[in-house]
Amino acid sequence: MKKYLFANWKMYLDVAESVALARAFKNLKQSSEISTAVFPSALAATSVVAALQGSAIAVGAQNVYFVDKGGVTGEISAAMFQATGCEFALVGHSERRHLFGETNHVVRQKIDAVVTTKIIPVLCIGETKEQRDKNETAEVLEAQIRSAFTDVAWPAGRDFIIAYEPVWAIGTGAACEPEEAERIAGLVASWTTALMGPEFALIILYGGSVRPDNVSAYINQTHISGVLVGAASTHEDSWQAILEAL
Ligand code: PGA
Repeated sequence: MKKYLFANWKMYLDVAESVALARAFKNLKQSSEISTAVFPSALAATSVVAALQGSAIAVGAQNVYFVDKGGVTGEISAAMFQATGCEFALVGHSERRHLFGETNHVVRQKIDAVVTTKIIPVLCIGETKEQRDKNETAEVLEAQIRSAFTDVAWPAGRDFIIAYEPVWAIGTGAACEPEEAERIAGLVASWTTALMGPEFALIILYGGSVRPDNVSAYINQTHISGVLVGAASTHEDSWQAILEAL
């Protein structure tokens, strides 16, 4: 089964650093069983696409806006990212939801915009520590999925990816136990199949403090096909260690 290794560079790298890291990634040996994508800042997307020409590494957007073109100061549409060569887009990353107030409704508008392009969306879902402590995890995640996908006009044959990223595990070093991430991934698969039908092949990733020493434990779970890595994807050494661990 194909495995997915996605690198979310967030706002860690400027353009020159992004291009340098992309070139370094291109030179690392990696198995053809692993599908890799990097998500640079919007500013670096064009240069990173150019730097990765001729490699199997894809490029994705960290965020998109849901209007194609118009008077929307400071935003960039899915169509524009597609035109620069991006193949994936993160939608509803927890930092977007929590730092920029993106609601489930806004996330849905972005999903609707992305499906009008050829970009494959990576819907990010996750519960906060408080929600987990109150036993609301399943309810919160199911609502995020329902809002994103109910009655969506999904193009036949288009992959879709859901990244389970518990908010309390992102950037904290406190990764979710692999067995718990697998239990959640099983729930995600059943909710999504009920919503979209069995003909859509769902790809589920885990994200949140993935490191070289824990990556294999996630990727070998039944319902988890890959990982979305933040901080550990922003250095050549730790990325190489992740590739070697796989
Ligand atoms: P982290 O981030 O690996 O630094 O925890 C993951 C993410 O936010 O996608």
